[in-house]
Amino acid sequence: MINVLDLQKVYGPLKVLDGVTLECERGKVTAILGESGGGKSTFLKILIGAVEPDAGDIWIDGKNIRTLNEQGLDAVRQQIGMLFQHAALFHSMTVGENVALPILENTTLDDNIVEIIVKMKLEQVGLSDFEEFMPGQLSGGMQKRVGLARAIALDPKIVLYDEPSGGLDPISAAVIDKLIVDLNRVLGITSVVVTHDIRSAMKIAHKVVLLHQGRVLIEGTPDDLATAEDPLVRQFLNGDPDGPIQLRKSREEYERSLLGN
Ligand SMILES: Nc1ncnc2c1ncn2[C@@H]1O[C@H](COP(=O)(O)OP(=O)(O)OP(=O)(O)O)[C@@H](O)[C@H]1O
Ligand SMILES: [Mg+2]
Repeated sequence: MINVLDLQKVYGPLKVLDGVTLECERGKVTAILGESGGGKSTFLKILIGAVEPDAGDIWIDGKNIRTLNEQGLDAVRQQIGMLFQHAALFHSMTVGENVALPILENTTLDDNIVEIIVKMKLEQVGLSDFEEFMPGQLSGGMQKRVGLARAIALDPKIVLYDEPSGGLDPISAAVIDKLIVDLNRVLGITSVVVTHDIRSAMKIAHKVVLLHQGRVLIEGTPDDLATAEDPLVRQFLNGDPDGPIQLRKSREEYERSLLGN
């Protein structure tokens, strides 16, 4: 369903994606893990055509999105819902208006039909009583769920989730996890979940992909990863500060950078 081939993206001197090749199967949940700043959000933005890669190909439902014109790209985008890392709701609009937005922008449905769809989507994320609320009146977890209702407003075949449970308490995070799993099971939505939450990824994903230094370090079922012996993989999954992945510069490097030579 989503096939990514040798994807590359640089920002100035920074190689963010350095040849990512992966497949996200139709109707399955694929979780993408990786260091902060490792290019996960960039990857999702490339999938929706919001960021242009420097090289590589992306096939979505058999179409190479890099060869599509704006019209073709729009048609593909309509089949993809995205939950942004920071919910990205419009704070001057009600919850209901936020969810209605993509429907109004992409269809010519009557207002009363739109209203019904909005109610259904809010019901699906457990927020049916909150249509008239402003986003600022909701908790972070509830805002994420509004973002999710908006992401599924057009009945997408694919939903991309950027840190769906980031910054949430364990119970709110579990609620989001359950929603992702339910949407996948009930509606057969192909799901790509970028997350820091390793436990959640292992629980909800059919396939887990670990990105490291702009490449796929390992991919496999949660069981494959749990039993992997690669020390890099072990360090990442165990969240060890010490190991092959060095987050902080060495003392000498730090001194050199402070002193400027
Ligand atoms: N528009 C941009 N211009 C310049 N640099 C960018 C831009 N977008 C992202 N970057 C850089 O690319 C790198 C990857 O960013 P990205 O947001 O994809 O990381 P991430 O894996 O999603 O991180 P996190 O887990 O913290 O959300 C970062 O170093 C970031 O500063
Ligand atoms: Mg990110």
